[in-house]
Amino acid sequence: MAPPDADRARALREQLRAADHAYYVLDRPLLSDAEYDRLMRELVELEEAHPELRTADSPTQRVGGAPSERFGRVVHREPMLSLGNVQTDGELDELDARVHRLLGLPAEEPVRWVVEPKLDGLAVELVYQDGAFVQGSTRGDGVNGEDVTPNLRTVGRLGANRGVPERLAGAPGAPGGRVEVRGEVLLQKKHFEAMNQILLRQGEEPFANPRNAAAGSLRQLDWRVTATRPLSFIAYEALAVGPEPWKHHWQKLADLAAWGFETNEENKLCLGMGEVKAYRDRMAEHRFELPYDTDGVVVKVDDLDLRRRLGAASKFPRWAAAFKYPPQEEATRVKAIWASVGRTGILTPVVELEPVRLSGATVTRATLHNEDEMRRKDVLVGDWVLVRRAGEVIPEVVKPLPERRTGEERRFEFPGACPVCGARVVREEGEKVWRCTGSACPAQLVGKLRHFAQRRAMDVDGLGEKLCAQLVERGLVHEFADLYAIPLQTWAELERMGEKSAANIVAGLTRSKQTTLRRFLYGLGIPQVGEATAAALAGHFGDAERFLAAAEEDLAAVRDIGEETAREIRAWTAEPQNQRAVRRLLEAGVMPAPEEVSARGFFAGKTVVLTGTLARRSRDEAKAEIERRGGKVSGTVSRKTHLVVAGEEAGSKLAKARELGVRVADEEEFDRLLAEG
Ligand code: IVH
Repeated sequence: MAPPDADRARALREQLRAADHAYYVLDRPLLSDAEYDRLMRELVELEEAHPELRTADSPTQRVGGAPSERFGRVVHREPMLSLGNVQTDGELDELDARVHRLLGLPAEEPVRWVVEPKLDGLAVELVYQDGAFVQGSTRGDGVNGEDVTPNLRTVGRLGANRGVPERLAGAPGAPGGRVEVRGEVLLQKKHFEAMNQILLRQGEEPFANPRNAAAGSLRQLDWRVTATRPLSFIAYEALAVGPEPWKHHWQKLADLAAWGFETNEENKLCLGMGEVKAYRDRMAEHRFELPYDTDGVVVKVDDLDLRRRLGAASKFPRWAAAFKYPPQEEATRVKAIWASVGRTGILTPVVELEPVRLSGATVTRATLHNEDEMRRKDVLVGDWVLVRRAGEVIPEVVKPLPERRTGEERRFEFPGACPVCGARVVREEGEKVWRCTGSACPAQLVGKLRHFAQRRAMDVDGLGEKLCAQLVERGLVHEFADLYAIPLQTWAELERMGEKSAANIVAGLTRSKQTTLRRFLYGLGIPQVGEATAAALAGHFGDAERFLAAAEEDLAAVRDIGEETAREIRAWTAEPQNQRAVRRLLEAGVMPAPEEVSARGFFAGKTVVLTGTLARRSRDEAKAEIERRGGKVSGTVSRKTHLVVAGEEAGSKLAKARELGVRVADEEEFDRLLAEG
């Protein structure tokens, strides 16, 4: 049986993974940076104290966002590294001293540094072949990016800036062959605000900040949506295959501009750390006047030969670093506090603020997380508070300013009943949160439907928050299964719907019936059952009926499931109303298929194409190996292919893979991936 630490570590992993996914894939952050850091620290500490709890796929073990499966994969020829942070003058001096040491430069001879504002957008790579733009991708996890070529072609077309040129100008300057240009896709502040206004008018949710808006706009499945967003591109790096034509980074920046890219006019060549620090201080003042968000300055060694000699550690180059600004804070007034009710019935105190400009956006709301946090921070209605956007993302109340109190302020009392359905609210012993006990609470139901329909669960495209709220308000849905019974005409008559969107939803619902048990169990929103637990349950029980019938001991026998989780799951499945909800879904034609194979590892859920002659195994053997690990083997290469395994004399499929930027593995790498999975 797993000890409580194991349960906690798993819960943390799931929370952090969900937060990563929300941030990197959905571009809708779930947690504030401070909260994220707190959870991450807790997990790191737990793993340090109990190394046996550290899993290979723990969020502590990796950087950046995994590329989304929605896009084709692009393997970056050279990894897109991230930057190490320096926080103090001392650390800048250390960087300078290290470079001196490595170069054998006398201390009084200054290093040439290029300093650039750290742009708060989304890093992308553009590939030019003989001067023509052929492929563009996001950074992804640094090694595998997402293919967003058609989307990138639209960047700059609305005139926000020079964008992504189709062809490099000034052919003599542009080397033949392949050039990779790296830089940041971003939204200028004024465009961000205009765009959010439009989204609000259309009844859609506005983006939290320009970074998320840029990422969300670029990472659209339909490039025509991207084309309506006024994105900019600023170039900061060029890489050529073979001998590079540049000796200095500063020269590269000049060439990038000559080819037709926008480079940052704030970039500066500095002689020695003294000039770097002066630039940083000036920029710290001046950065809010820039048309786009920045979150620091990047310091880079100018001499490229020296860069090569300095090399890179596993995640960061040794020749560059980022100096990050502390988050900006502003004072504003709390107009109201209320409790918002989520999917699991948890009441979260939310403060409504006088609108305040903060790091380039207008903030009107912040969460206080839970009652204790609200009491700890001692925030009253009417208070002046200091707010910040941690990581310039989610608004947070830092602290109230009691010296500005007038005596008119009021405490917010947590409601004794659910503000939405009126049911009793309880705070169980040892719990930090109040929960609504209403079994038919509309707010909970809306949250549940949303969770059920999300991409990682039943994957019903278009069934968002607003639509779910309408279904509940109109009494069309009381249980998941009701979704499948709504006639097309009824869908079409809902607000902001039409024949076409209605048809799409119905088609999406029909498609969702062919699902996997793992997705199905996750979508039910059972307490403690995140994606990993759902996968473990699905692998163990194989079908929904067996899962429903499982006793607490049977549940506790599942790999990675502890006693407490088992108890909570059983409490859920024992509820006749939950049993009924599941049965009705099965009756409605939902067919959760078992995945007999592993739901973990590299091949799980991936599509692989085999081509050429493999030396160590037959095609059929290779296919069986992949399928046993949860992968699918297909005969044709498309953007949806995750991997092409190329044996000897691979032909057109290999060429196609290269053309589409699909990852290619030789047999040796295939062996390695099989061993991993
Ligand atoms: S250079 C290894 N230059 O910072 C070199 N990066 O933490 C890294 N970024 O993913 C790239 N402005 O999104 C570079 N002027 C700039 C940058 C910049 C923003 C971002 C970029 C990258 C992240 C690295």
